[in-house]
Formats: sequence, C-alpha cells, structure tokens
Amino acid sequence: MCGIVGYVGRQTALKVVIDGLRRLEYRGYDSAGVALVSDGELFTERRAGKLANLDAALADAEPPQSMTGIGHTRWATHGAPTDRNAHPHVGRQGRVALVHNGIIENFAALRTKLEAAGHELDSDTDTEVAARLLEAEVAAGADLTEAMQDVCRQLEGAFTLVAVSVDDPDRVVAARRNSPLVVGLGRGENFLASDVAAFIEHTRDALELGQDQVVTITPDKVAVSDFHGNPAEGKPFHVDWDIAAAEKSGYDYFMLKEIEEQPKAIADTLLGRLTETGRLQLDEMRLSDDELRAIDKIIIIACGTAFHAGLVAKYAIEHWTRIPCEVELSSEFRYRDPIIDRDTMVIAISQSGETMDTLMALRHARQQRAKVLAISNSNGSTIPRESDAVLYTHAGPEIAVASTKAFLTQIVACHLIALYLAQVRGTKYGDEITEIVGQLEQIPAAVTEVLAALEPVRELAREMGEARLVLFLGRHVGYPVALEGALKLKELAYIHAEGFAAGELKHGPIALIDQGTPVFVVVPPKGRGSLHDKMISSIQEVRARGARTIILAEQGDDKVLPYADQLIALPKVPTLMQPLVATVPLQAFSCEMAMVKGLDVDQPRNLAKSVTVE
Ligand code: M6R
Repeated sequence: MCGIVGYVGRQTALKVVIDGLRRLEYRGYDSAGVALVSDGELFTERRAGKLANLDAALADAEPPQSMTGIGHTRWATHGAPTDRNAHPHVGRQGRVALVHNGIIENFAALRTKLEAAGHELDSDTDTEVAARLLEAEVAAGADLTEAMQDVCRQLEGAFTLVAVSVDDPDRVVAARRNSPLVVGLGRGENFLASDVAAFIEHTRDALELGQDQVVTITPDKVAVSDFHGNPAEGKPFHVDWDIAAAEKSGYDYFMLKEIEEQPKAIADTLLGRLTETGRLQLDEMRLSDDELRAIDKIIIIACGTAFHAGLVAKYAIEHWTRIPCEVELSSEFRYRDPIIDRDTMVIAISQSGETMDTLMALRHARQQRAKVLAISNSNGSTIPRESDAVLYTHAGPEIAVASTKAFLTQIVACHLIALYLAQVRGTKYGDEITEIVGQLEQIPAAVTEVLAALEPVRELAREMGEARLVLFLGRHVGYPVALEGALKLKELAYIHAEGFAAGELKHGPIALIDQGTPVFVVVPPKGRGSLHDKMISSIQEVRARGARTIILAEQGDDKVLPYADQLIALPKVPTLMQPLVATVPLQAFSCEMAMVKGLDVDQPRNLAKSVTVE
C-alpha cells in the first residue's frame, strides 16, 4: 500500500518521479505528492485524490528544475485522504521532506513528545512525526543518512521512508522495515521505489534490500547500512520483463490486458520445468529431497484471490501426494496457535510478495521451525526472500488491483509443487507425472479458446447491470472458483455477491434466492460421477425457487442443458485443472459489469494492490 519513488541523477526529477508514480498508482490512489530539491530550496506539491489532481496542480505551480526528487501515492491509514494529510510531509523549517509507506505504531508517543517540545503538527498522519524528527537530527548536525538511521531506531511498526534535504541536495535516503523498497541501478542516476515498475523504463538492474536497512543513493553511488550505520549489502537482481509489459498497450484497462495475457502467463510459468528425461525440475526449490520426504503436513497461507488458489491446490496436493493439507487465511493463522513443527511445510502464496498478513504468518511458521515455500510473482520482494524456498510464477507485472493472471499461475505453481512432491516421495510414477505436466501444457490453448468465446458473457453482464445480488455455486475445485467469481464481482462492480459450496446451499443460503436472482453454477466435469449429478440436483433446487441459472459446464455436457438459462461451455480439461478455464468467464463478467456501471476497473474504491498493513 502506498507507492513511493525517489530519484537522483541527470534527468528532470519531476518527470521521472511522476512517471514512476503513474506506474505505482495501483498501490493506492487516495492522494499523491512530490518534493524536489533545487538551489537550496524545497519545493513540494500534494493533492488529495488520484494522480491527475496532482498533475493539474503542478501545471499551475511552476516547479523548479531539479535532479533530486521523491514522490508518493497514498492509501490512507492515519488521517483522512485530504490535501493536508497527503505526502510528502516536511520538517518544521521546511528543509527536509519525507514520504512513507506503512504504519508507525509508536507515533502517538512520539507526537506527544514533539508537541511538548513546541511542535505544532500540520496533519493527522503518523508520517509527519518522522519528518519532524528527521529534520531535527539534520539541524543538530547529522547528515541525512545518519539522521535516517537515528530516526529509524526510534520508530516501531512497519515503514518504508524516503527523504530529501536541502542540506544534502544530491542524495536521496531511504529506509525499510517490513515494507517494500527496491533500488534501481542506473548509469549516472539511481532510483528508489516500492516496486521495480516505477523505474523499469530506465533500468532493469535492481538491488533487493534486507530488513532494517538504510540506503543512500547519489547519482554515482548506492550505499547500504543497517540502522546503526554498519555497512551492509543489497542483493542484485535483473528484472525479466520490460516496459511494454507494464503498459496498457491499447487496452482501456490493465485488467482487460491481463485477462488476455493468461495463456502466455501459464505457458511461461510452465516453461523449462521438465528435463529431457521427463523429470520435473524446480530450480528455485531450495529444500532437499530428504526434507521434502520428511514432510507430514502442508499448510497453505494466503489472502484474497491467492487464498482461493490455495483452496484449489489442496485438492491437487492431497490427491497426488497423500499429504494432509490445510488452507488458512494468513490473517487468522498465527492467532490460533497452529500445530506446526519442522516436518510441516507452509506454502505462502502471494502475487506481490509483500502482503503483510502473509508475511507475519510466514514469520510465525518459521519461528516454529516449519519449512516455508513461497509462491510469488515478484522478484526482490520480502516473502520469497524470507522463505526457505520459492517458486516464481512468471505472469509478468499484474497492475490491475483485481487479480487475474496471478490467480491462474498460482494454481499452476501449486500443481507443479504437488507433482514435484509426488515425484520425490514416489506417490506417482514418473510417466504419470509427465502425463499430467503434458495436460497442464495444454491449458494455455484451452484458455485461449475460452477467451475467444467471451462475448456472450460480456453481453450477459451488460444485460444484468442492475443486479443487486449475484450468487456463485461450485463443488470440489469448483467451490474456490465460485468464491473467486464472487470476490471479483464485489471488488470490481460493488455488487453483493457470495460464493457457496453447492451442498451447503440447503443449510441456509438458499433463503437468499428470489424470483430472478442470478446464480452462476460451476458444474464438475461429467467424469466426476455422483458429484456431477448432485450438482444438477442443486441447480434444480435453486431454479425451483426462481433463480436464473448461468451454467458453466464442459462442452458436450448435455445433461445440464435443460437447467440452464444461459450456458457457458468450457473446454474439456482434467477435473483438477477446471478452475484454470472456469474462472476466466467470471473475470470477464465482473470486468464488464464494472465498465457498464462506469466504474474504474483497475482502481476499485477503497482497495490497493499490495496490502502492506495488517
Ligand atoms: O499480493 P497477494 O497475492 O498477497 O495479494 C492477496 C490479496 O490481497 C489479493 O489477491 C486481493 O484479494 C485481490 N484484490 C483480489 O483480486
């Protein structure tokens, strides 16, 4: 949450910073602001609302020419989303400016101290106290780096801080604890950002920072230390996608583009996983075969859409490996005192690799000596760095707040892990594993087929623009698809939607159904025998109460036809892979619904892409 940019070099800092903020706006869009250092003066401009409001203010403000600057796009925590609370915040003398992502937990005590010392704070934020403290340190003779180290030692909570000072015009100083920050390494220029997308058009060489580190960038140097000034090292990495991947490329919304990119995202995630001899290899799997053989329980932790991917994974993991698998919301995990030990594998799924709830759950698991395996789409992020092993999904940057391609690739990654465990533990023969990987390799073509047939789904959304309640039913791996369909509709179209396991319907939720209530039903493939028949019974039950049924079923499933007001035919794929095709029409439906209602598809209200507060 919140996007942060810092720049020092030879270009016009304002342009670099604003362009960077534009690529980070998905992280929060309650307000935006910049600070520039020029000729011994600090220039700041900040505005509530989206970046466009800041653009307009800057057009009237005549900002100075400067090659050192910082910027911020906010998801509000402390203080309403107003101009006054927008970042950057400045010190009392206006000589230091600071932007912040995270929550400073001891800000109230620090604020009281500052007020006792005569400070009158201008905002309701936790950030302003850090700006005041930082400037006071500089005024007392510290350089900006030393001042940052000193202030960080006083702060509790989670924070990324980035600051500039008129007394140090050629440097930008940043610090991180439990919040994201990466360094972009240029020639004669360097960058700081919450995410590489902010500087990808300038450099693909980056530096990952560790916990509790301070970094100082000048045009020609990057220096890392801990909070006590001891030198430290960052970890260099190269970003494997380019600027084109972070642009809309002619689509009206990133989400539309990302839905279309799903076949490629799946293919890229599968690429190079089979050796010439047909064995599955996971290069980033840093756990030994002995460790994997010793595992007696798997717990998947994740939030939101990633949690739904975990629910799908449970079926595959238990079926292929026979290891018991639980799936838990990260935010609940550590509060129930989970039973875990060194033979437990915890799989943390997170597209961003920065979700605070998942990070805290992961740390709890590692404290109990469990092995933690991360599935992430973000190189250089905290969750993979703090895990024992990682499997990267290769979905490319996902910029729309609503997750699409990340979801499908998370499922694929989970399937690969399940098959890898089955290979190591011998619960599947090698040729069986090769065959299943072959089936996964057919999925991009199946998703392409679904994408080509989406127009009727979009037409349906246009016709249902007035719906107040939409229900989604599924069974087996169709149940998480139902949950995901409902989540997409809630977050994009602000419509009350619920996903249910079809068998649960009669235990309460069926009372919601009224004349014309739209009910999407994900029907298990016919090969699932009694499950398929039971789903048909559920469909009849809701139709008997007036529901309008929109049925997602595999091609050739004639048995469902009499019960479908609308039929969305899905390509035939193995049952455990059905979510990879069944989710796509639901994504398109919600996206179209949001467009029909005139809503901002990529930036739904109240949300942010990367949730870095608990
Ligand atoms: O980055 P993560 O995968 O950890 O994010 C988890 C959730 O915040 C995320 O999936 C969220 O639910 C999406 N907005 C859903 O579309």
